[in-house]
Amino acid sequence: MVASPKDINPNNEPTVLCPECGVPIPVSMEKCPYCGIRMPRGCKMLAIRVAVGIVALIAAIIALCLFTRCSSNEPYKIVDGTIICHTPKRAAGQQDMLGFAAEPLETVRVGFIGLGSRGKGGPKRWSQIEGTQIVALCDLKQECIDKAQEYLDKAGRPRAAEYTGSEDAWKQVCERDDIDLIYVATPWASHVEMALYAMECGKHVAVEVPAAFTMEELWQIIDTSERTRRHCMMLENCIYDFFELTTLNMAQQGLFGEILHTEGAYIHSLDHSMRRTDRTWRVDHLRNFRGDAYPTHGLGPLCLVLDIHRGDRFKTLVAMDTKCVMGADIYASAHGEKLDDFQNGDQTTTLIRTENGKVIQLHHNIVTPRPYSRDYALVGTQGYAVKYPIQAFRIGNDVPEGVNPVSLKAHPFMSNEERDALLEQYKHPIIKEVGEIAKKVGGHGGMDFIMDYRLVYCLRNGLPLDMDVYDLAEWSCPAPLSSISIKHGSAPVQVPDFTRGAWKRIKGYEFAYAE
Ligand SMILES: NC(=O)c1ccc[n+]([C@@H]2O[C@H](COP(=O)([O-])OP(=O)(O)OC[C@H]3O[C@@H](n4cnc5c(N)ncnc54)[C@H](O)[C@@H]3O)[C@@H](O)[C@H]2O)c1
Repeated sequence: MVASPKDINPNNEPTVLCPECGVPIPVSMEKCPYCGIRMPRGCKMLAIRVAVGIVALIAAIIALCLFTRCSSNEPYKIVDGTIICHTPKRAAGQQDMLGFAAEPLETVRVGFIGLGSRGKGGPKRWSQIEGTQIVALCDLKQECIDKAQEYLDKAGRPRAAEYTGSEDAWKQVCERDDIDLIYVATPWASHVEMALYAMECGKHVAVEVPAAFTMEELWQIIDTSERTRRHCMMLENCIYDFFELTTLNMAQQGLFGEILHTEGAYIHSLDHSMRRTDRTWRVDHLRNFRGDAYPTHGLGPLCLVLDIHRGDRFKTLVAMDTKCVMGADIYASAHGEKLDDFQNGDQTTTLIRTENGKVIQLHHNIVTPRPYSRDYALVGTQGYAVKYPIQAFRIGNDVPEGVNPVSLKAHPFMSNEERDALLEQYKHPIIKEVGEIAKKVGGHGGMDFIMDYRLVYCLRNGLPLDMDVYDLAEWSCPAPLSSISIKHGSAPVQVPDFTRGAWKRIKGYEFAYAE
């Protein structure tokens, strides 16, 4: 009786073909049960090795997936403990926006979307800036539009067209063919959709902070700006604050030596405003978001000092948060519901290391009584500047006469008189130009006016804007990246190069001026 394959291989061993009759023979058999020839030892060993190799390969793949926790749902992977975010390829024919300047506009025609507590200041300031036309005002609430119209009346400007009554009335503003710039000051959830749509309609965009909360959205904004050749600037006003501009000037003139470490923050007790029951978008967002939700005010001014994507770039980010106590309490006041799973830690700390070996420290805390601070500190090899709680400097390392160099008084801040003289000496040219009018028109002490003034100036003169779309992405990205780091036990995240290879092309940060 002829042996069946089941008879000769009851344990389902790996097999090797008999060189004489071509039948698969279990590797452990010395002889072929069909033709009787002796099975060559090499074949048997080869088959065993192949079988062992396949098993080892499968085990290695499983282990790699377990240890690196690769997840097909996440837009990142973890390699050797470092989180690596996906960088989408730039489409063929698409070019970067570094140094991009659009055609000059004699008059900048603007449409405002979102006229709430922040947005209502836009039309007020713009009505004081030469070379502007306020074409359209859009908000869900008629009373917000009415208020903005009053500002135009007061400034002797014509009233603007009104858009309200539906969640997407703003699209009609973007679709108008007599508008150059869409100015977005709505809550966070609508920033990306509005910015993308406006660019697709051929409009430049200025969008409030932070521009976006996911890496995918940031890449969408970059890709759309690069493809449509429209500016997309984030309305980061803090780069124009007086101390920040002047210390940027000092840093650029080498007063602090090489800046190695910087500190920034958004520490602002929003307790009262977030407990309101009629305006809950921020606390609703924080309910589901663990990480620094508002990094741009602290980060923007530091990035100009550090020449980010103008010779340096973010390389690695790590973040850690405290537990949440006050956030959940505030949510309960706003919604009448006590949650056990409110996500946002009361204080979040993020550290970013740059390619050139500099470190940025960021804090976010909007729920404790800690007094307002954006920290803003520059630590250089030859000096130190700090803004909060008081503006102060130390330049050089001389020890005052008669003081023991190891005493705690050996390295004091310079006197207030010396500080004020230094601030005067290094006053930034932009402040010299518009500082006084900025203080009069106002908006966070004048910095909001300077921001709008510079935006209009650059658009009218066909210059690159002070902040480009890569600034928008870099200053917003600690929101998603701190979240990812915290989710993985404060693991390091490799920050993508949003310029996709061009971060060294521009040498040093500069404001553009017309001839
Ligand atoms: N740069 C700064 O200093 C600064 C300061 C405060 C707020 N902000 C930013 O400004 C933005 C708005 O904040 P806020 O405090 O003014 O909020 P807010 O709630 O007071 O105002 C938002 C306004 O947007 C309107 N709105 C919402 N959805 C709309 C839609 N689909 N179409 C038209 N209008 C719509 C609302 O009716 C409301 O009037 C946020 O992104 C915030 O982070 C920036």
